[in-house]
Parts: sequence; structure tokens; C-alpha cells
Amino acid sequence: PLSPLVPVLAAARDGGHAVAAYNVIQIEHAEAYAVAAERVSLPVVMQISENAVKYHGSLRPIAAATLAIAEACTQPVVVHLDHAESVDLVEEAVRLGLTSVMFDGSKLPDDVNRETTARVVALCHEAGVSVEAELGEVGGKDGVHAPGVRTDPRDAAQFVADTGVDALAVAVGSSHAMTERVAVLDTDLIADIAAVVPVPLVLHGSSGVPDDGLVAAVRAGMTKVNIATHLNQVWTTAMQRSLEERPSVDTRKYLGAARDAVADEAARLLELLALRP
Ligand code: G3H
Ligand code: ZN
Repeated sequence: PLSPLVPVLAAARDGGHAVAAYNVIQIEHAEAYAVAAERVSLPVVMQISENAVKYHGSLRPIAAATLAIAEACTQPVVVHLDHAESVDLVEEAVRLGLTSVMFDGSKLPDDVNRETTARVVALCHEAGVSVEAELGEVGGKDGVHAPGVRTDPRDAAQFVADTGVDALAVAVGSSHAMTERVAVLDTDLIADIAAVVPVPLVLHGSSGVPDDGLVAAVRAGMTKVNIATHLNQVWTTAMQRSLEERPSVDTRKYLGAARDAVADEAARLLELLALRP
């Protein structure tokens, strides 16, 4: 069923593990993540980014499909708006029934980010929608990687107190859109932030982090782990292989192969982040 973010993250944090958050671009992504969640009996976050909304030209159709898939899933599924820089888009997501949003004011001047995030929290909480925000720009979305940026623990605690957000994305050494899993995270910093910030922490740009780095990040206190580029690579590789080995003009053949491959990797990562042996 469709679930809010807060209870899903609270249960993971109480259990000392994390929840995977995967990006939905095509409808088949959402189908793959639902299959993965059911296969390993774990909740999942399905997120639609502002960039994906720009690609489709509208939030509504992809949101409607993702919400329907979430409702039909036997595991809890959070449908989340990812990296929204537009307050109007946040309001639309709330109207459409998404259960969580990320307001990304990381490019705004600090005081404007705090003030706008607090406004987003007020409008979302009124509708029972959870809010994630970002402090310290993770970077890389524009192709400029800045793995050196770090979030200060005290600043993070103050930001949460000022804004009332339900989850906080922090900069601890990852960077968006990495195609090789070579990032080294500052796990001591994750633990320092987790010790003073009362809400669950979110890792962005997790595609660049190898399996053992993800596990170390979860053990240090990360509760939501966002993975997009890595699954896009799995998707594209499977699609290319399918087209080479079994050429077909039927889009279901190669998109189906991609969906199966993404479901397998999504299930594997759900279990990895749940720290299952
Ligand atoms: O918000 C989405 C993520 O931070 C995904 O980043 O594409 O580098 O895995 P990634
Ligand atoms: Zn991100």
C-alpha cells in the first residue's frame, strides 16, 4: 500500500538499517521496484524527480501510474517528489496524493533556503505529507562533481530545528550521477551528524558508493539511500544486450528485459541496505 515516509524511515531507524529510494522515469521502473519490494518483503521509496517531471512535461501521468502501482503493492511504498526546487510543483504533488516531497533549496542563499523550506513544511504537514530537505549541496546534478562539500553537524541540527523537516539530506562525500562506484564517504561525519540531528538522514548520489561503503554509511546512521544512476546503468546495459542478442521492434521485449534486470538489482540493494546477512 501507499505509505507516508515518516513511519517507513522510523521503522528502519529503529531496526538500525536503511530504506532504498529509487527513481521512477518510465512506468516500468515503478513496476520493477514493486516486484523487488515484494520479492524481499521490504518497503521501498519510489521517487519522481523534478527533472523527470520536466522530461515528461507534467507530473500528473507518471505520478498517477506510480501511485496506482504503490497502492497495489503488498509492501509499503512511499511515493516521493525528488529534488523539487519549485514550490508550485510541491503543491501539485500534494494535490495529486504523493506522500512525501524533497524540497531542494540547496542552491538558495542559506536564509532563503531555511525560510522557504519552513513554508514547504507547513503546507505539506497540513496535508499529512512528509518533507525532506538538503543542507550542504551534494552536487553533481549539473555534471560538476564536488565530493569535497560537507555538512556541519551543528548547522544541520539548527536547520532541522528552524524548518521542522522530517528527514535531512547531508553532504558527506557522495556526488550525484557518478557512473563508477568509487566514492569514499566520511562515515565519522555521518555518525557525528546522526548524533545531533533528531530526524533520519538521507544519502544522495549513492550510485557512486560501492556496496561496502553503503553498508558502512547505514551502520553510521544513514536511513534513506537514494540510488538512481546505478539502476539506469543496469537498465541500459540490459536493454542493449537484449537488442543485440534478440533484435526486436517490439518495445516490450527490450524494455521488459531492462525491467527484469532492474528488479533484480533493486531487490539486491533493498536487502543490502536492510543489512540482511
Ligand atoms: O535524488 C536522487 C539521488 O540522489 C540519486 O543519485 O543518481 O547519483 O544515484 P545518483
Ligand atoms: Zn539526489
